[in-house]
Amino acid sequence: MRRKLAAGNWKMHGLRADLAQLSALNTAHPDPAIDILICPPATLIAPACAACDGGAVQIGGQDCHARASGAFTGDLSALMLKDAGASAVIVGHSERRDAHEESSEDVRAKAKATHAAGLVAIICLGESLAQREAANTLDIIAGQLSASVPNSADATNTVIAYEPCWAIGSGLTASPEQIGEVHDFIRARLTARFGAAQAGGMRLLYGGSVKPGNAAEIFAVSNVDGALVGGASLRADDFTPIISALEAAR
Ligand code: PGA
Repeated sequence: MRRKLAAGNWKMHGLRADLAQLSALNTAHPDPAIDILICPPATLIAPACAACDGGAVQIGGQDCHARASGAFTGDLSALMLKDAGASAVIVGHSERRDAHEESSEDVRAKAKATHAAGLVAIICLGESLAQREAANTLDIIAGQLSASVPNSADATNTVIAYEPCWAIGSGLTASPEQIGEVHDFIRARLTARFGAAQAGGMRLLYGGSVKPGNAAEIFAVSNVDGALVGGASLRADDFTPIISALEAAR
């Protein structure tokens, strides 16, 4: 059985005062039946780990460099994120693929570096609205999946997040049929490449305007093992009902 995962991506939001949200999450979920991960800005990773010490909430990074160290001003390696207390790193988020022109090959190198550091890589994929309207979604997903997921991926170190770009931060959510089609497709592709034992253990998250009001419907879809949540992860009052919906979907 895959343990479900509720992951929050705070993006470029969060000051030390917001660590109170993590304390509230830990208090609300003392013994959750699922994994809970929050990826705050890198400046908050160490204090967030201190705030969650002894609690169920795990802390992750939002991006990393592909190298372990070097002359890369402003960048952070997966090893540094681990050193600060992170247990996972989001790689290939569409905001990085778009705004920082990261290719799937770049994403693969970052995922490989994440694995080398002993962390879980949450590898993001997703089609644009134009690609969906041109009926290219599965081709795009197949291409991103094969190019972005390194051979080092296994059931314990890799999570795939399907995030249609048009659903991120837009209030639009993919329908259960659209989500199910893509998640079933991703599972089949991973199985063909990594075998049933490894692929069957990799968790597949849906992301894109997941809210308390739509979470239960999304979590009922086949091969949805959790969510990657942006806006609704910033406040414990919003994230808690999403966590509860995922626990209820077991
Ligand atoms: P959203 O973001 O939940 O605010 O749409 C999701 C994401 O970008 O991971």
